[in-house]
Amino acid sequence: MAAGHEDDYPADIRRAAARIVEELGEPPRLGVVLGSGIGAAGAGWEITTRLAYTDIPGFAVSTVAGHAGEMLLGRVGGTLAAVMSGRAHFYESGSMDGLTFAIRTLAATGIATLVLTNSAGGVAARMKPGTIVLIEDHLALPALAGGSSLVGPNVGPGPRFPAMAGAYDAGLREAARRAADKLGIAVAGGVYAMVGGPNFETPAEVRMLATLGADVVGMSTAAEAIVARHAGLRVLGISVVTNRAGAVVVGDEHAAVLAAAGRAAKDVARIVGRVAEGLERV
Ligand code: HPA
Repeated sequence: MAAGHEDDYPADIRRAAARIVEELGEPPRLGVVLGSGIGAAGAGWEITTRLAYTDIPGFAVSTVAGHAGEMLLGRVGGTLAAVMSGRAHFYESGSMDGLTFAIRTLAATGIATLVLTNSAGGVAARMKPGTIVLIEDHLALPALAGGSSLVGPNVGPGPRFPAMAGAYDAGLREAARRAADKLGIAVAGGVYAMVGGPNFETPAEVRMLATLGADVVGMSTAAEAIVARHAGLRVLGISVVTNRAGAVVVGDEHAAVLAAAGRAAKDVARIVGRVAEGLERV
């Protein structure tokens, strides 16, 4: 349903998408959202143009530190790509509008595949800082409680009641696992719980999330994955564990955590590049 339905989006989304396609010169095939700390530098991506979000009509400008707020355009693993550096979060405004507009804009450029990356807190004991997690499924806690990113008019070509089983594409996840293997990078699989934020969780809340089956917790990706699936995109979700959820970290340990997360963030970009190289075959 995704590719080929670009005309089914409202004019404001088509206008934003057209700006991106114009800047890149051709429609991208791949979209990537970079989580905080995850940069394109050093991973061999060929970014040829940068488009500030302020130059994309209607695009929400992220205000969170560490999110530059620009669309990086070029090739990732040889595949034409639009890479969002900086994303809108629900907690910035109390509205999902910024993130739904961004994901639908990417869909309206004609991409078929979207890679969502994020930093996350480790809930399960095995999810130590620096762990890279290929997301297998999610608990979208705001969505379960009436705060789905699809609440409101049914925008675009997707169905009113989209299924979320298999939201994270098994073939893409397998490709990411193989890519990580080839690169000698360890990856885990797990369930991502989305909370509204911006406050972190209490220890009791982290125990609750663990009981519910969460392995990691974050404030972004599930809401975007829901919009992407509604738009018919194939989704690969990757988390970098940056901290133990619910823990207070101080001193030397803090520096070690940052270093581990920094290394993992670089590795995520390398994995995504490798997956993109073989995208035609996935
Ligand atoms: N909780 C929620 N979101 C996060 C965390 C966390 O501990 N770390 C990074 N994003």
